[in-house]
Amino acid sequence: MAAKYSAVVEKTLDHMANMRAGKFDLSWMNANPDGWGTKVKASPVGITLDNLNSVSPYGDIPEYGSSIGSMAPRGCEIPPETPSLGIYDINEKGLVWADNVAKLYDEAVARQWSSTRDIPWDRLEELPEEMEKAICQVCTGLTEVEFIAADLPAKWLWRINHDFHEVKLFLASQVMDEARHLDVFRKRALANGGGLMQASPGSENLLRAIIEAPNYTVASSLMHILAEGFVLTLFRHGEFIAPSVVEKKIFRLCMQDEARHVAYGTMHLKYFLKTYPERAEEIHSILAMGEQAIFALNTEPQSIEPRAILAGGGVDNMHEGLLKTSYLYTKQITEYLQRLKVAGLDRTERISIPIELPVD
Ligand SMILES: [Fe+2]
Ligand SMILES: [Fe+2]
Repeated sequence: MAAKYSAVVEKTLDHMANMRAGKFDLSWMNANPDGWGTKVKASPVGITLDNLNSVSPYGDIPEYGSSIGSMAPRGCEIPPETPSLGIYDINEKGLVWADNVAKLYDEAVARQWSSTRDIPWDRLEELPEEMEKAICQVCTGLTEVEFIAADLPAKWLWRINHDFHEVKLFLASQVMDEARHLDVFRKRALANGGGLMQASPGSENLLRAIIEAPNYTVASSLMHILAEGFVLTLFRHGEFIAPSVVEKKIFRLCMQDEARHVAYGTMHLKYFLKTYPERAEEIHSILAMGEQAIFALNTEPQSIEPRAILAGGGVDNMHEGLLKTSYLYTKQITEYLQRLKVAGLDRTERISIPIELPVD
């Protein structure tokens, strides 16, 4: 007669029979003696990732991730028969790490907000049609670009060695942040009598450069520092282009999230360049290409004109709006160059686009 169950099931049933007979294995109880006896001290806000990382062996972050290639948690005992999953090929700390990443993850978790609950949607008021069209166009553009900052981390996250779980957790929090950003700008476009306006071919060119970037750090420099840096400066000056308290609140909440993404990107580039100083030129050349793409995108009519209308207060006052937009652009460039300096990359003399918009 053919066996009723497969060999795997039969083996498990044998284990069960042993247990019923009172024969237990219990060898796992002697596992990982070096990691036993750990008592992590909580900080005033609770137990943070940094609190965990203050104790050995759990906080010992290797320069090269475990070569086993499993999902086994850092610091546990790994039985020799543990199989490699064969998918984790980003194994060097220098390729993903940032010294602030654990803190940023804890902050991300603590500061999640809701686009449904936390925006005072009931305070939206009817706007002149040109102003509603302008804010709807800005929201269309933001809805279009926000999710690159989720798709890009998602593209690399699953390949990162589990010994760098802090980076994976932070990138997962960024995916959630960007989901909320896409969502909140789409809501604003549809909430006040307007609707979505026109997509941007210029944006798509920049997005393509980010998603097709050949390695993680190049992609991160383009996205976390250049693209998100520009968006962060824009949100920080959200009062320029926010026609009401509703958009002001949206920009302020998104700004907090973007500040984390940019802070990770800046500190990651710093760690990367400290580990691989010979690779600075690689970053310079991708940024030169990205700067030109962002310049083209920023000066497209569907990008610059609605901002000038909002900043000026109407179509008739677009020149004043352009001057404010130009001030904002220079601020975006200055802050971008400053962040790169913090990361150890000086592009002051090498920037490939004007640092001022010729509007006057
Ligand atoms: Fe975002
Ligand atoms: Fe972001």
